[in-house]
Amino acid sequence: MKTPEILTPLPGPRAQQLIKLDATFVSPSYTRVYPLVAETGEGLWIQDVDGNRFLDFTAGIAVHATGHCHPQVVQAIKAQADKLLHMSGTDFYYTPQIMLAQKLASLVSGPDVQRVYFGNSGAEAVEAAFKLARWHTKRELNIAFFGAFHGRTMGALSLTASKTVQKRHYNPLVPGITHIPYAYCYRCAYNLTYPQCNLFCVRWVEDTLFRTTVPPEEVAAIFVEPIQGEGGYIVPPPEFHKEFQAIARKYGILYVADEVQSGMGRTGRMFAMEHFGVAPDIMALAKGIASGLPLGAMMAPAQIMDWEAGSHASTFGGNPLACQAALATIELLENELMANASVQGERLLSGLRVLQTRFECIGDVRGIGLMVGAELVKDRHTKAPAADWRGRVIQRCFEKGLLILGCGQNSIRFSPALTVNADEIDLCLSILEESLKEVAG
Ligand SMILES: Cc1ncc(COP(=O)(O)O)c(C=O)c1O
Repeated sequence: MKTPEILTPLPGPRAQQLIKLDATFVSPSYTRVYPLVAETGEGLWIQDVDGNRFLDFTAGIAVHATGHCHPQVVQAIKAQADKLLHMSGTDFYYTPQIMLAQKLASLVSGPDVQRVYFGNSGAEAVEAAFKLARWHTKRELNIAFFGAFHGRTMGALSLTASKTVQKRHYNPLVPGITHIPYAYCYRCAYNLTYPQCNLFCVRWVEDTLFRTTVPPEEVAAIFVEPIQGEGGYIVPPPEFHKEFQAIARKYGILYVADEVQSGMGRTGRMFAMEHFGVAPDIMALAKGIASGLPLGAMMAPAQIMDWEAGSHASTFGGNPLACQAALATIELLENELMANASVQGERLLSGLRVLQTRFECIGDVRGIGLMVGAELVKDRHTKAPAADWRGRVIQRCFEKGLLILGCGQNSIRFSPALTVNADEIDLCLSILEESLKEVAG
């Protein structure tokens, strides 16, 4: 069985040189939490520039749905590279973009024909959804959630409400957005308990917000992550989205699902909203869609995506290589990887729940499929966030050869490739256990 192999102090000598160059020439706005300098990747494994081997439970922030360099994806990219690298799908036609649009449209059940807009990132997919919602409804207001992360372009950033550092000095942003509490039941904003709360957080929107400050007939869309990602891998109650969408429908408001992190099979279904029985009006996709090539997509039924020629486009959006990578990715997801995400996700969740019985500092364990989070607290009763322990656990895991990342203020996220196997899940759990013992044991 493959295991992590750490041969040098971290960072190793070559990594140190590169990090020094990076500090000189690369934007200091990036947030590296540990000094990994990746050289090669295969499946769940990353080798750094000094030959150290790591087990990757980040998948490059939930991107490598099919694992690093899946041979079928690499082959599809190589074959396309020999034929056509770029021809701008905004001004010309080419086969991979049309084939991918048709394939993505077929993944959404229901009577309506779906149309697809292509961009290069999650933020661009959200930005496109933001503009389409305005264009289609001709309304100016929008609703989004505290804790939400929708990207960093000015429109997407205006919807984001994750960390002030992401917004500092960028105001004024796009006006007309009201942020409201998400159904973060472990830390309910209204101090209520599910299910006795009877989903007060949803009813409050109609009973208070729409009666006092936000005229519902002026609201274009509600932007929502099916499972909040950067905010802490927060899973809302099963009926949350259905009830919210029912309110949206009542007032002609579009329900926009940001599936950038939760979509493309990660939760064991192609789109996380399927777990909640909701068909959104607009959907934003990116990250896992093309196994690492830059691609964003925004989908809506034809009667909603009714904007005119020239109203929105991007030179590189729907690049032929990225489209071929996406087609190969979707084939792999449908064949076996989504099913594997469910099975291995259950193994990971139950392993974490066992650790929760041993470690007081694990306040909450949550997730669906391979979108799994563990929230660290100083005390189970006060739920005081243990952000410092979370940081140290992540560092210790890195030093032992396991790559994980944080999310929210004090949670750890587990978002491995959907190719992960049982041995790799168990390895992750055992390294995590050792690290928890050292930091908070
Ligand atoms: C839910 C969600 N939406 C949008 C984005 C932005 O994606 P990108 O970084 O590709 O612009 C992210 C990135 O983390 C995300 O998690």
